[in-house]
Amino acid sequence: MAKLKVAVLISARGSNMQSLVHACSAPGFPAEIVCVLSNNLEAAGLKFAAENAIPTRVIDHRDFENREAFDAKLTEFLASIDVDLICLAGFMRLLTPEFVNRWQDKILNIHPSLLPAFKGLHVHERAIESGARFTGCTVHFVRPEMDEGPIITQAVVPIHQTDTPEALAARILEQEHLIYPLALKLVAENRVKIHGAVVLIEAADEQHHALLNPKVEGF
Ligand code: GRF
Repeated sequence: MAKLKVAVLISARGSNMQSLVHACSAPGFPAEIVCVLSNNLEAAGLKFAAENAIPTRVIDHRDFENREAFDAKLTEFLASIDVDLICLAGFMRLLTPEFVNRWQDKILNIHPSLLPAFKGLHVHERAIESGARFTGCTVHFVRPEMDEGPIITQAVVPIHQTDTPEALAARILEQEHLIYPLALKLVAENRVKIHGAVVLIEAADEQHHALLNPKVEGF
């Protein structure tokens, strides 16, 4: 079967993009990264992509008059390279409804909380301040409203009493690097079915159950 052609959109570090690149390099993985695109020429992830022989492209949002014009350029480019799926990985631009609807059910995002809790920015500080015992991370389909959309994979991460936002972010990031490749694999295998707000995963095996509901250390 042909591999799913994926573009990964980044704005900075790109560690989630790296986890997707590593996953795609495994023999038999059902997706390939055909482009890493950034709105920021300085994004550190671009160097990694280039070193790994992945085509890169910069489309700087500051070169456009408004959001609509920037998004139209993104669509033009992504369509020209014939992508099947767009993975947002730390892409710090809000996307217009026109863009999201043009790529309906073809955009994934990763967010460092257990959605629908803690949408938006500064999620780690807010999670700690809330007094919640657990937070985590989520991969979901993108809808026009920010951090909304059917959830594909999640991982739970405990909040320690002594946690700083940085320490918590680092533990969540480790889980992000597991659940994004897993979500991509499930989508590429065509095992992810959207039923309204809910995703059903066909033939979820033991390993997937384990990753979707990880055991908490020490319990
Ligand atoms: C991650 O925490 C991701 O969940 C959020 O932005 C951060 C990006 O990190 N959307 P990286 O660029 O993938 O390292």
